[in-house]
Amino acid sequence: MQESRKIGIVGAGWVGLVTGGCFAELGHNVIVRDIVEERIESLRAGRMPFHEPNLPEMLEKNRERLRYTTAAEELGEADVLFICVQTPPTYSGDADLSYVWNALDDLPRSERRQILVMKSTVPVGTGDKVRAALEARNLSNVGYASNPEFLAEGNAVRDFLNPDRIVIGAFHEEDAVSVEALYSGIEAPIVRTDVQSAEMIKLAANAFLMTRISFINEIANVCEAVGADVVEVARGVGLDHRLGPHFLRAGIGYGGSCFPKDSLALKQLASNSGYHFQLLSAVIEVNELQKRRVIAKLQKHLGKLRGKKVALLGLAFKPGTDDMREAPSLVLASRLLAEGVEVRAWDPVARPTELLKGAQICDSVLEAVTGADAAVIVTEWDDLRTLASDAVRDAMARPLIVDGRNLLDPDETRAAGFAYEGIGRPTSPFEALAQTAEPPPRVQR
Ligand SMILES: NC(=O)c1ccc[n+]([C@@H]2O[C@H](COP(=O)([O-])OP(=O)(O)OC[C@H]3O[C@@H](n4cnc5c(N)ncnc54)[C@H](O)[C@@H]3O)[C@@H](O)[C@H]2O)c1
Repeated sequence: MQESRKIGIVGAGWVGLVTGGCFAELGHNVIVRDIVEERIESLRAGRMPFHEPNLPEMLEKNRERLRYTTAAEELGEADVLFICVQTPPTYSGDADLSYVWNALDDLPRSERRQILVMKSTVPVGTGDKVRAALEARNLSNVGYASNPEFLAEGNAVRDFLNPDRIVIGAFHEEDAVSVEALYSGIEAPIVRTDVQSAEMIKLAANAFLMTRISFINEIANVCEAVGADVVEVARGVGLDHRLGPHFLRAGIGYGGSCFPKDSLALKQLASNSGYHFQLLSAVIEVNELQKRRVIAKLQKHLGKLRGKKVALLGLAFKPGTDDMREAPSLVLASRLLAEGVEVRAWDPVARPTELLKGAQICDSVLEAVTGADAAVIVTEWDDLRTLASDAVRDAMARPLIVDGRNLLDPDETRAAGFAYEGIGRPTSPFEALAQTAEPPPRVQR
């Protein structure tokens, strides 16, 4: 058993709560601070502010080592302070560091040696600025390390406890040693490096993952033009040990609280430094266009969209979370509403947001598809694997499924009496002809 330390967590969001819960699981005493009172009150009452599998159990199991507060002074007791506040994009696309600066301003002065650890995703150079700000306040007793987080929502607890690597960049060796010691109990390669490189590793890793997504989406679009099947192509490509199978799943593009903002932030970071990051610009543009291709697929089958009913199935940016930040569903809903479509939306956990104003939120898949001219799979929730059922087919005005995540088997779906459009998958000769506004005849079974 390693030495138990006092850890302060600044920000009770996805990263902060998972980090706090997992460090408590590793035996440390954790104080989680947030500025939103209701959030702290619900955590004290054992209620989760968002949906993340296994996190409620982890927090409950370790509740004796976890404390929640809005009072910044309580962080004065901590040996190590993890900054886990949001870093959203500004209007210019740069990362907005105002939450980070506010969090630093709130920190109580402590006589003891403390280490500030940046878990929020920040531009390269942030560590230098924080270091300078600490020096300017005569806080040279406060160390600094960059320890970016790579967890993925929906798998966050597992990712934190079984990471591919732990990256630690510090100005002083002793701080890196202290941060590394906190993770003892977790088996993972440790990447000890300088602060700037640690900051860049996070941005580069995300940019590379997004590049793979946009790459396979472009391959999918070419597959559609030439009659190949992107699922087969990705399988054959991914078996190459130099490439691997991950993030080669074609679909309607990435969203979420990280990829869109982090790609913009890296692009701006490069251009602020005089470099035009062309590849990343293309990755971002491909992703924007990919979301909109669903509209063309619907038009191909339905003709004019005005007055049609479309069910959007899945609203969260990916399954396993209720996070709607930058979800493709938001772009799709607003594009469809602008076309005069009646949008019916369903998700098993995501809460409707202001941005979905105008869409009718439904309690079940069946309610959403009833009377619909098309059903679009936007998020690959497991519940949707059985979408091609008799009940759904009979409830729809037209049995058309646009599978934005290639979740269903095209042949089985067609055999169940649906017209089917995936992403980068060959259309059947029958469907290629069905480019009129007329409903396709129902297939006899
Ligand atoms: N969500 C992810 O999957 C993920 C993964 C890796 C990295 N990150 C990065 O981690 C950071 C946090 O992301 P998140 O998704 O957890 O954000 P979030 O928005 O879910 O949570 C941030 C929390 O910080 C709180 N906060 C803001 N200012 C504060 C202050 N001064 N003192 C205390 N609390 C404060 C907010 O009220 C909020 O509860 C971001 O930089 C993000 O890019 C996120």
